[in-house]
Amino acid sequence: MMLRSLGTNGPRVAELGLGCMGMSEFYGVRDDAESIRTIHRALELGVTMLDTADMYGPFINEELVGRAIVGKREGVFLATKFGIVRDAVDPSQRGISGDPQYVASACEASLRRLNVDHIDLYYQHRVDTKTPIEETVGAMARLVEQGKVRYIGLSEASETSIRRAATVHTITALQNEWSLWSRNLESNGQLLAARELGIGIVAYSPLGRGFLTGAIRSSKDFSADDFRRTSPRFSGENFEKNLRLVDAVREIAQQKNCTAAQLALAWVLAQGDDIVAIPGTKRVSTLEENIASTNIHLSAADLAEIERVFPLDGASGARYADMSFVNR
Ligand SMILES: NC(=O)c1ccc[n+]([C@@H]2O[C@H](COP(=O)([O-])OP(=O)(O)OC[C@H]3O[C@@H](n4cnc5c(N)ncnc54)[C@H](OP(=O)(O)O)[C@@H]3O)[C@@H](O)[C@H]2O)c1
Repeated sequence: MMLRSLGTNGPRVAELGLGCMGMSEFYGVRDDAESIRTIHRALELGVTMLDTADMYGPFINEELVGRAIVGKREGVFLATKFGIVRDAVDPSQRGISGDPQYVASACEASLRRLNVDHIDLYYQHRVDTKTPIEETVGAMARLVEQGKVRYIGLSEASETSIRRAATVHTITALQNEWSLWSRNLESNGQLLAARELGIGIVAYSPLGRGFLTGAIRSSKDFSADDFRRTSPRFSGENFEKNLRLVDAVREIAQQKNCTAAQLALAWVLAQGDDIVAIPGTKRVSTLEENIASTNIHLSAADLAEIERVFPLDGASGARYADMSFVNR
C-alpha cells in the first residue's frame, strides 16, 4: 500500500488505516477472535494506522487493540482519543472533558489499556467548550514532552478551534467524518484551515458507517443497541432517499468492476494526498475487499459522474441526532 504524509512534514502512514471501533461497540455483535485476526491481516497487508479511542467499548476496544499488537508494535502507528467521558455505571451517559488534569490521567489510562509506552497520535475526540482549547492542547503538548505521545490530533473541531489549537502546538491530524454523504468539512472552514496549517486529514466513517457499501437494505436489521438506529440518516424516509443515491453509485462501481465500498473509499482517497481513510471492519474478508480499493484509479470523468449521481449535500438527514457535539 502507498504511504502518505500526515500533515506537512508529518509521519508517513499507509493511505488506508483500520478503524477498530466497531469491533467492540456500536455496530452489532462482537467477535474478538475474528477482530484480532482482522488487525493482524491488516498489518500484513501494509496497514500501519490503527484507530481506537478510550470511549469505544467503553475501554475494551483499547484493550483489544493492545492484545492484538503484542509483538507487532514496531509496525503500528497507534492512534487513540480522549475527551468523551462515559459513565462507568451507565455508559450511555456522556460528558466532554478537555481539562488538563483529565487529559493527563486519560493518557495514563490509555497507555495502560493499550499496554504500550507511547501513543503515536493522540486526539482530542470532541472539543470541550468549558475548557479553552489552548489549555487542552497545552496538556497534550506536555505529553509529547514526556515522550508519552508523538503527535497531536483533533477530531470534529471547528475552524476556529483548529486555528486556536495550532497556536499552541503543531497539530498533525484532523479526524473528521468524510465520505460521499458527509462533506460538511469541505465548506465549513475545517478543510480550509487544515490545509492552510499543513494538518493531515483522517477521514472517519468513509463508508458511511456501512451504508455506502450498499449492503444495508433496511434499518430494521440493526440490533437494538446499534448506533445507527439513532442516526437520522438511517431513519424512515431519509433511509429510502439515501438508498437511491447509493444504488446509483453501485451502478458506477459495477461499470468499474469494483464494489460500492471500494468506490466509496477510492473517492475519499481521491480528494487529496493529505487524506488517510480509516474504514472499519471486524472481518478479514471485508478488510481485504477494502484494501483492494487502493488499486482503483478514478479519473476526473469518474469523479464527475459520481458527483452527478451523488451530489454534495445530497444525503438526507443529519449524521448525528445531536449535532451540537461536532464542529465546535
Ligand atoms: N472521531 C470520531 O468521532 C469517530 C466517529 C466514528 C468512527 N471513528 C473511527 O473511524 C473508524 C471507521 O468508521 P466507522 O467504523 O464508523 O464506519 P465505516 O468505516 O464507514 O463503516 C464501518 C461499517 O461498514 C461495514 N463494512 C466495512 N467494509 C464493508 C464492506 N466492504 N462491505 C460491507 N460492509 C462493510 C462494517 O461492518 P463489518 O465490521 O461487519 O465489516 C461496519 O459496520 C471507526 O472504526 C473509528 O475508529 C471516529
